Amino acid sequence: MGRFDDKVVLVTGASTGIGRASAQRLANEGASLFLLDINQPDLDAHVVTLNEQGVDVGSAVVDVRSDAQVAAAVLECVERFGRLDGLANIAGVQTWRRSHEITTEDFRRDIDINLIGTFIVCREAIPHLLESRGAIVNMSSTTAFAGIPYSAAYSASKGGVLAMTRSLAIEYAKEGLRVNCICPGGIRTPMTDGAMAQFPEGADMQLLLRQMSLDGQGEPEDIANMVAMLLSEEARHVNGTSITIDGAATA
Ligand SMILES: NC(=O)c1ccc[n+]([C@@H]2O[C@H](COP(=O)([O-])OP(=O)(O)OC[C@H]3O[C@@H](n4cnc5c(N)ncnc54)[C@H](O)[C@@H]3O)[C@@H](O)[C@H]2O)c1
Repeated sequence: MGRFDDKVVLVTGASTGIGRASAQRLANEGASLFLLDINQPDLDAHVVTLNEQGVDVGSAVVDVRSDAQVAAAVLECVERFGRLDGLANIAGVQTWRRSHEITTEDFRRDIDINLIGTFIVCREAIPHLLESRGAIVNMSSTTAFAGIPYSAAYSASKGGVLAMTRSLAIEYAKEGLRVNCICPGGIRTPMTDGAMAQFPEGADMQLLLRQMSLDGQGEPEDIANMVAMLLSEEARHVNGTSITIDGAATA
């Protein structure tokens, strides 16, 4: 008997990294899944892997910035499974630039995907989550409250996710919907693997390494475990909060 038997969870950013690990963890506990991502090859490969394990899984190639694509995908999910119990909003990007050199367009990209994209998926999913008295987990970051250089757009977007999470929790708590977020520190994923090459020339490594975890780098599963916890009934009294998972980096 799994915590997510007969439950349906929609996961964004499910192709790689934390989203992929979260989908796998939820499936291990019995969830049926609907996966969204913009990266089709890795999304398709993940669906094949889950199908081979007997998981009931649907997917859609979606840019979370698109109202129409997100609305269609949420509808497809609910038509397929007849319900929606959980949403894990994990899709995200990080732009590394000196702040006096970043273009407005690039700054907006982080805000559009990480903050507004997260909001669009929440907005489309909430009517269905209210029916099931479900739960949302959004992916913020320690950069929401602890400064990191060359990442002002990303930090602003993740601060927005943290504040929006609290606001949504207050708005819907009496109707039985819970909304929480997770603030990971450095986790080993394609996003962080590729980060080094994107640091601006002459980047101050001392500033970048100011907040190092004290127990080695975290793995996607360390976050996936908390995604599952927060979406489960065991977290029924956990609402409107953020959980930091960073190996004491910001303690
Ligand atoms: N890895 C870390 O150290 C770390 C730390 C704090 C927060 N996070 C957050 O965790 C989340 C997952 O990141 P990750 O580290 O697993 O990186 P990742 O690059 O492996 O995963 C991000 C996923 O989001 C998808 N995506 C990007 N833009 C999209 C869009 N417009 N529409 C739909 N999907 C899109 C990507 O294709 C990818 O599959 C992100 O929100 C990230 O900001 C990561």
